[in-house]
Amino acid sequence: MPNSSDGPWWADAIGYEVYIRSFNDGNGDGVGDFSGLTERLDHIADLGVDLIWVTPFYPSPMVDFGYDVATFVDVDPLFGTLDDIDRCLARAHELGLKVIIDMVPNHTSDQHQWFVESASSPDHPKRDWYLWRDPAPDGGPPNNWVSQFGGPGWTFHEATGQYFFHAFLPEQPDLNWRNPEVVAAFEEILTFWLDRGVDGFRIDVTQGLVKDAALRSNPELRPLTDGMSRFEQWDSFEHRHDIMQPETLDVFRRWRRLADSRNAVLVGETYVLDAAALRHFLEPNDGIHIGFWFEPMHTEWDAAALRSVLADPHREAGANVGWVMSSHDDPRAPGRFGGGREGAERARGLFTMLSMMPGLPFLYMGDELGLSDGQVEPDRFIDPVVFRTGVVTDNRDGCRTPMPWEPGSPMFGFTSLDDGWLPHGGRTDADTVAAQSADSDSPLAHMRRLLHTRRTWFASDLAGVGSVTFGPIDEENPSVIWFDRGPLRCVLNTADTLAEVPVPAGSTVEYRSLADFTEVELASSTASPDVVSLRAREALIVRRGGEAT
Ligand code: NOJ
Repeated sequence: MPNSSDGPWWADAIGYEVYIRSFNDGNGDGVGDFSGLTERLDHIADLGVDLIWVTPFYPSPMVDFGYDVATFVDVDPLFGTLDDIDRCLARAHELGLKVIIDMVPNHTSDQHQWFVESASSPDHPKRDWYLWRDPAPDGGPPNNWVSQFGGPGWTFHEATGQYFFHAFLPEQPDLNWRNPEVVAAFEEILTFWLDRGVDGFRIDVTQGLVKDAALRSNPELRPLTDGMSRFEQWDSFEHRHDIMQPETLDVFRRWRRLADSRNAVLVGETYVLDAAALRHFLEPNDGIHIGFWFEPMHTEWDAAALRSVLADPHREAGANVGWVMSSHDDPRAPGRFGGGREGAERARGLFTMLSMMPGLPFLYMGDELGLSDGQVEPDRFIDPVVFRTGVVTDNRDGCRTPMPWEPGSPMFGFTSLDDGWLPHGGRTDADTVAAQSADSDSPLAHMRRLLHTRRTWFASDLAGVGSVTFGPIDEENPSVIWFDRGPLRCVLNTADTLAEVPVPAGSTVEYRSLADFTEVELASSTASPDVVSLRAREALIVRRGGEAT
C-alpha cells in the first residue's frame, strides 16, 4: 500500500476493475471466471495496483450478466465455486492485493427466492420486501418513474393484479429499503463475505436504494418521444423522488459501522454528475468511504472542463473521491477522447493527473493497454439494454470485450476456445499484455512506470499530503492545467501542439506520460531552466525547484 502515514489502507491506493466475465477464462467455456482471475493476478500486482474490484459472480440468470442476483451468498458455477474464491482471495492477499466485491443491494433477480415469495401473493410476509403498488385509476403504472435502461419502470404482474418497480430490467425488481427486514438481510450478507476475507464492497446504484415513501411522480422536464436513448429518457425528468433520498445515508451509516469494525472499505457507485451531490453519501464522515466520480467519463476534451472535472469533486469530497475514466458500462476513454494514438495519449495524460489526486483512482481492465472499445457487430450484440431501447449507442458490449493476453491464439489467450461470450473485438498482437510487456514504450510499460514511481512518492515526500492546489488557467497557455501536491507539480497539456510552461527555477521533470523527447523535438523547443516543454497531449510530473527534497 502506498501510504506510510496514519490514513486508512486505501489512502492513495490504486484500484483495478475486473469485469470477471471478460478477464480470463480458466475452465475453457468462453467466459472469465475465478480460476482464470487467480492465474492472472500477477499481472495486476506487477502493474502496481493495490486493490481489485470484482464485478458480480453470484448465481444469476445472467439477464444483466450478473447484476441480477439470485442469491447473494454463493457463486454461479459459470465463475467457479466458493473454494475458487477462497483461493483467489488467498493468492491476491499473498501478492499484497486487496479484493473488494460488487454488492447489488438496489434490486435482485426476479428468480431470487425473496422475489418468488413476494410475487406469490399480496399477503405473503415478503410482499413488502419489494415495491408493489395498485395500478393508477386509468389502469396504468402507479407513477411516471422510468427505468434507467429505458422504458417504464413499472411492470404489471397479472397473477396478483399489482405493478412492481424496477429501476433497470423487469427481471431486476427493486427491493424496498424502507423495510427493516431488507436492511437486516443485507447486514448478514455483508458479514458473510467479510468473514470470507473480502476487503470491502463496491456498492451498485448507491444513490437509488431508498425511494420516496409515497412513491410520488417525478417532475417532467419534457415529454418522452419515440427513439429516445435511455439517457434521453432519464434526462426527461427531474429525479426528485426515485433517487437521492436522504434515508439512503442511514443504510450506509450502518454499513459503515460494520465495515470499520473489519477495516473494510465501502466504495459507492455514486452516479451523480454534480460534485456537491457526491458529498451527500460521504458526510459527515459516517457514510461510505469513497464515492465514484463519473465526470471524467463524460467530459469534453477541453482545458477548462477538465480542470473543473478534477478540482470540483476534490473541493467537495476531498480524499473520498473514487476517480474513474472507463468501466464496463461506458465507452473506454481513448475512444471517447478521439480514438487512435491521439485518444490513447489523451487518456494516458488524464489518468496521470487523476492518479495524483487525493482519493482512489481506478483503472478498468485494459486501460493499462491503452485499449479503446472492441468492435462488436450488431449480430453479436448481447447487452440487454440495446434490445430494450433499440438505440445502438446504448450498447455496452464494446467496452466488455475480453482482455487480450497473448499473441498467437484466436482469442489472444483469453480462452482456449476460438470465440468467447463476446468476440475479441478486433484486437491485435500489439494490444496484448505479453507484447506490451516486451516493449519499453508501450502503454503498459508507461502505466507500470507511473504506478511504481507514484508509489515511491507516496511512501516518501507525499505521505500524508492529502490535498492539492490548482493553478489558474493562464492566458499564455490556455491549453494547460496544473496542480501542486506537496513538492510535486502535475501538468497536462490538452493541446495538440507543444506547450512551454513556466515552473519555479531549478524544477526537474520526474515523470512524462509520453516517451522522452527526441533530440529533434528538444532542439525545436526554446525551453530554458525555468520552463518545461510538454508535447501534445502530454502530462508531466515535476519536482518544483527551490523545494527541499
Ligand atoms: C450498474 C452496473 O455497473 C451496471 O452494469 C448494471 O447494469 C446496473 N448497475 C444495474 O445493476
